[in-house]
Amino acid sequence: MSAVTVRAMTPEEYEAWQSTIAGEYAAEQVASGAWSADGSVERARAENSVRLPEGSETPRMLLLRGVDELGEPVGRAWVGLDHPRGAPGVAFLYDFEIVEGRRGSGLGRALLAAVEEAALAAGAEALELNVFGSNTAAIGLYSSSGYAVTTQQMRKPLGERGPRGISGQPTV
Ligand SMILES: CC(C)(COP(=O)(O)OP(=O)(O)OC[C@H]1O[C@@H](n2cnc3c(N)ncnc32)[C@H](O)[C@@H]1OP(=O)(O)O)[C@@H](O)C(=O)NCCC(=O)NCCS
Repeated sequence: MSAVTVRAMTPEEYEAWQSTIAGEYAAEQVASGAWSADGSVERARAENSVRLPEGSETPRMLLLRGVDELGEPVGRAWVGLDHPRGAPGVAFLYDFEIVEGRRGSGLGRALLAAVEEAALAAGAEALELNVFGSNTAAIGLYSSSGYAVTTQQMRKPLGERGPRGISGQPTV
């Protein structure tokens, strides 16, 4: 198994990550029909800043880089130790990614294990996440790592109209 350890993001990494995730989160919400494109990046930034009021110093948030044996960054993770809807002892994985070009060689599985260990060490008893139904790679990783579906959103487009807004918890 690939060796991956986690460390806290540096302030520079944090700033770059904030821009990246706002863009990605906004694009996901627009693509899923939950948000309109207008102002979506600003909306994503605003939502994230509510969760991270003190930026990289926000208490009970783990903002992590995964690094390989050479210390090379291979991925990132954001864990909130307090569940967004208050489930006791359940931490929430808001963001999880392996850098493009390093995927498909076991690093995702190794990073997930390291993130779980960090959450456990910080007192979490379980880790929860959201994943889009179309993300087969991530669903494969999570299912084979012991995650089970707790709730499921389902949607069917009706008539000629495209999907309309349903907003929910961000999907990592
Ligand atoms: C999802 C992601 C983290 C997986 O990381 P990875 O390093 O490619 O995963 P690994 O090589 O460790 O593979 C672990 C498991 O993931 C699944 N998987 C990985 N790539 C897959 C693919 N292309 N198709 C189907 N399943 C795949 C498999 O179940 C695999 O286990 P196996 O190798 O025993 O079959 C990575 O694809 C990624 O960063 N994607 C973009 C961001 C993202 O979607 N994050 C998750 C949001 S919920």
